[in-house]
Amino acid sequence: MDLINNPYSPGAGVPPPELAGRENILRDAENVIKRVQNGHASQSLILLGLRGVGKTVLLNRIDQIAENLGCETSIFEADMDRTLPQLLTQQLHRLLLKIDRRKRMGDEVKKAFSLLQAFAGIFRVHLGEFELGVARPMVTGDLAIDLTDLLVSIGEAAKARNTVAVILIDEVQYLAKDDLGALIMALHKISQRKLPLLFFGAGLPQFAQLAGDAKSYSERLFTYPAVGPLDPDGARMALEEPARREGVEFEAGALEEILRETEGYPFFLQVWGSHVWQIAQSSPITAANAREASRKAEAALDESFFKVRFERLTERQQHYARAMAEFGNDPANSTAVANLLGLTVKQAAPIRDEVIKKGMAYSPKRGLVAFTVPKFDQYMKRKMPDFTNQGERNG
Ligand SMILES: Nc1ncnc2c1ncn2[C@@H]1O[C@H](COP(=O)(O)OP(=O)(O)O)[C@@H](O)[C@H]1O
Ligand SMILES: [Mg+2]
Repeated sequence: MDLINNPYSPGAGVPPPELAGRENILRDAENVIKRVQNGHASQSLILLGLRGVGKTVLLNRIDQIAENLGCETSIFEADMDRTLPQLLTQQLHRLLLKIDRRKRMGDEVKKAFSLLQAFAGIFRVHLGEFELGVARPMVTGDLAIDLTDLLVSIGEAAKARNTVAVILIDEVQYLAKDDLGALIMALHKISQRKLPLLFFGAGLPQFAQLAGDAKSYSERLFTYPAVGPLDPDGARMALEEPARREGVEFEAGALEEILRETEGYPFFLQVWGSHVWQIAQSSPITAANAREASRKAEAALDESFFKVRFERLTERQQHYARAMAEFGNDPANSTAVANLLGLTVKQAAPIRDEVIKKGMAYSPKRGLVAFTVPKFDQYMKRKMPDFTNQGERNG
């Protein structure tokens, strides 16, 4: 059908035509913001889920909600190559400028600016020169202490301006342990002082474990809404609503095929929707159209989405992932994976950790390991069909 009106939106962080099945999470986020606006302490929400479930889209939506409610926000993404001061400093500078815009610079805002300047200096992050005419505040070089002081002062600046500062960080699983520990400490202080500074995060499921390891009290500070695949009603809505707005219907068999193949994963729903739209000649979209879409979508994913992820792995990591795939989409027992590779648990552990660190796998429970990308198990089998049971071969 008409390419120009294809409503589906496959792509990282691209807002879907219909944000299906996420009402509860958005309502919770809104309530958290309103609580803080009313002077109450609140837990930070950290959205956790696999790749392609819609975390980034939700985080962006929460950012919008916060802005609409009159908060000043800063949203950015963590990555493996940058430290927290490198990630934060420019962003907090912009956030302070926004807070400052509300009124002429008062003492609290000045103090926060100067603290930020000192923070940038000691952690060697470039920040343009600005003259404040206030004494340079003390910084220690200990990130936990300095970040706490900095966020507290930004919280105080926000309070003085009758607003709430909202910091949103995507891909939180990439924060290094010490950086994460410092961030948690700073947020703990903020919550004790009931300052109007709020943190939202999004990332892969292993974050809960990382945060717990960094600071045991993190579980009292954070709530972790699980972002999963859509239930069948949500998935149907995600497909049908955008089409309906273009005057196009799905036959029941078409929906069935797509729901089965995508397992309700939002990214896949967009990919399948987009393909089936191109394939169908006219409304209604038929089951045969959907089956063709499945073939095309799979081939397209193999050449892009799956492939780039596969290529990020070293050879031994690829073998590890291939062994995991023997267990299908379910979490695999790390011991069993090691056995399959003909390795001891001790030999396999560092490889497993690398695969996890690269964001390709996570541990849903001690001793288990699972893919962070849905359907990756099937891809691995297509990609490396001749994987033999090394354990049997060696033993
Ligand atoms: N609730 C939803 N309903 C339908 N499609 C969605 C929904 N949430 C996200 N998507 C789509 O899923 C894809 C992945 O979203 P994204 O936020 O990048 O996922 P993540 O950050 O979890 O990897 C995008 O194409 C987006 O349009
Ligand atoms: Mg994302």
